[in-house]
This record gives sequence, structure tokens and C-alpha cells, in this order.
Amino acid sequence: MTDVYDPFDPAFQADPYPAYRRLRDEEPVHRHAEPPFWALSRFDDVWAAVRDAAAFSSAQGLTFFPDEIGTLGLAPTMVMLDPPRHTVLRKLISHGFTPRRTAALEDLLRAFVRGRIALMERKAADGEPVDLHRDFSSPLPTFALAHLLGVPEADRARFDPWVAALVGFQDGGFGAEALNAGGAIEAVSEMFQYFTDLVAARRAEPTGDLISALAAAEADGERLTDWDILGFCFVMVAGGNDTTGNLISHGVALLDGDHGQRERLAADPSLIPNALLEFLRLEGSVQALARTTTAPVVLHGVEIPAGEKVMMMYGAANRDEREFGPTADRLDVAREIPRHLGFASGVHFCIGSHLAKLQARVALEELLAAHPHVGVDLDRAERLSSAFTRGWVSLPATGIGADAS
Ligand code: HEM
Repeated sequence: MTDVYDPFDPAFQADPYPAYRRLRDEEPVHRHAEPPFWALSRFDDVWAAVRDAAAFSSAQGLTFFPDEIGTLGLAPTMVMLDPPRHTVLRKLISHGFTPRRTAALEDLLRAFVRGRIALMERKAADGEPVDLHRDFSSPLPTFALAHLLGVPEADRARFDPWVAALVGFQDGGFGAEALNAGGAIEAVSEMFQYFTDLVAARRAEPTGDLISALAAAEADGERLTDWDILGFCFVMVAGGNDTTGNLISHGVALLDGDHGQRERLAADPSLIPNALLEFLRLEGSVQALARTTTAPVVLHGVEIPAGEKVMMMYGAANRDEREFGPTADRLDVAREIPRHLGFASGVHFCIGSHLAKLQARVALEELLAAHPHVGVDLDRAERLSSAFTRGWVSLPATGIGADAS
């Protein structure tokens, strides 16, 4: 079974779920030949591995490319550090990036979302194509992060292309070609310079924003260095944009696949927070990320040697019937989900999950209230091509304008 899982194959990327099932059922410890790596796909296995940072390290990078950190040429950010350094950094960052700071954004995000709905309505009325992903889901996280990071209104036009370059280069993988594509390196270095200046300005004269809070954060006598803060800005922008936009788009696409569920959610918006977890479980923005074994590990009778890359197949684990029962493949907005891997688990559990959930909740509350029949045209949609993430480039909307039924 050498090619059941080919992460680069467009057919696999379009519908990875049959391959995931075969992996779980037939080869839960899968060895991929080229590039060489292992893949874990059952929920219990991924859950245990990702929560054991001593045996499964993040320090060699999160893809199956061998020298991702060297190619990037950057000091590792928190997501590529192991304890104990990671523990110190995460504690400090948590002091500045609090759920309370996130919650305070709600009204602002709601106003932005309403503005985007009005824009889509105008476009529909003018007979212009409306793209749910480009016009609605994707601009929201960029707006939220720019605001949170204290990027002034006047600089937003510069911020957006940096985000696009950073996200694009991440999705293309970390090979040298992908890195050089689309001026990504230049965009990233511009962005670093911009945030270096911003950190210096906030250190000199703190405001109430996140960067000022991070600069002031202190725990056990330690403070964040400039690099620590920059590194955090970098992972926030790289990891918090596409992921969140895609959660919203996946949600609308999933609801359009089951109108009974859509009606139920529109009628009872208090189910939206739970529905978001269900969307993430069924169509996770992050499908798989790697760890590296620090010692030999034996699982289901197979030995994975030390120093090997092992993919944590979050997307496969989240549809495992062993965890979610016989309806694991089906959308159920009221499903009880005691645990899932949409935001990973363990020490690297997504630190932005509260921000992602807030944005997606506000987006869906407003969209379903204004357009309860909103849907998407999958035949004209364009998927993102990526071995690690799942999402959209373009997702034409239906049900916004005159065709609403
Ligand atoms: C639906 C949206 C999101 C999804 C699906 C998602 C998913 C994830 C996952 C799977 C991880 C673990 C990475 C690993 O296994 O190594 C992670 C970590 C992380 N995420 Fe998110 N994320 C989302 C939104 C955000 C947002 C909005 C932010 C912005 C603040 C963010 C910032 C981070 C950071 C900084 C980490 C690293 C945490 C650490 O290493 O301790 N994410 N995210």
C-alpha cells in the first residue's frame, strides 16, 4: 500500500477521506517512501503522540521536508520549540494574548462582518460575481490580526499583501522554490522590518495594544525579547489567517450540503459555537503536521526509529469512527464533541483558538441571520493546493442576492 496517501496528488487533496479511512483501518502506522516520513491516522494514536512532546518533538519543523528550519533561515518560533523553552515562552505570551483581549474585539468584528455582507449584497444587486471566500471569510482574520497587532489604518494596505505572501509560501511548503515564489522572501523581510519598528515604538511608548502588552509581560523574572515578539507576530499571521477564513468557508459549504442542518442552525444560533467544532472536525483547516521522534517508538507492532518525521494526521483522526462513532463522516451541528484535534492538543494546542472561534461565530451569526439560504457553488470553486492545510482560493456564493430561495 505505497500510494494510498500521496499528499501532493490533487485527487487526494480534493477528497482525502477515503485514503484516510484506509490508513486508519489497514495501516495505522504508515510509512511514506519519498519524502520519507511516517503517518499516524487513528484518533487515539494522534492524540497520545501530540500530547507527548518528549517523544514527538517539534524542533525539526512541522512539515515532512527535511530541513525546513534551515531553509527558512529564521530562528524557530514557539510552534517549533519544545519544552522547557516553549513552556516559558507560551506562559509569557499568554500573559499578553488573553481571551479577554480577544473578547473585547467582538463589536468591532461584528461591524466589519456586517460591512462585508453589505458589500456582497451590493455586488449581487449589481450582477457582479460574489465570492464567499474572497469577499467574506478571508478578509475577516486579516482585519482582526491587523487590529490586534496595532497596525494603524494607514498601513493596512501594506499589511494585506504581506499576509498573502506569507500564507502562500506556507501553503506551498518550505522547499526553496516555494520560498522564492511570488516574492515571498521579500514580503516576509519587509514585514519583519515593519514589526521590528513597531515593537521598538511600543517599547518606547506603550499603548494598550497586544504588542505593548507582550513587551511588558513578565513571568518568573523573564521577559520576551524583540525576537520572541516578532516570532509570535509571524506565527499569528502565518497560522491565524487562512485557517480562520477557511473555517468560515468550510462551515457554509458543509451547511449547503445538508439544508436540514442549515435550517436548524439558522433557527437556533446558540448552536453555532458547537457547530464550529463540528466544521473543524469534518473539514479541518489544518489536516496534518509533523513531529520528529526523539527515540524509537513502537506502535501497533511497528517500530518507528529515532529521528524520523511522523505526520500527525489531524484530519484523519477527526473522522475516526473509533472515537466519533458510526456517524463520524456526517454533519451534526449538535454532536457532543468532548475532544477533537482541530486545534491539535498538548503543549502546542492552538493559542489563537478563542480568536478563531470568536470570528467564526460572529461571521456565521450575521451571515445566517441576513441570508439563511446562503450556499456555495462547488462546481466553480477553486481549492487551495496544499499537503498540510485544507481550504479555498475561491468559493462562489449563492443565496445572497436575487437567486436566494
Ligand atoms: C480555525 C482556525 C485555526 C486553526 C484550525 C488552528 C490550528 C492550529 C493547530 C493545529 C496548531 C498546532 C500546531 C502543531 O500541531 O504543531 C496551532 C497552533 C498555533 N496557533 Fe492556531 N489555528 C487557528 C487559528 C489561529 C489564530 C487565529 C491564531 C492567532 C493568534 C493562531 C495562532 C497559533 C499559534 C501561535 C500556535 C502555536 C502555539 C504553540 O506552539 O504553543 N491560530 N493552531
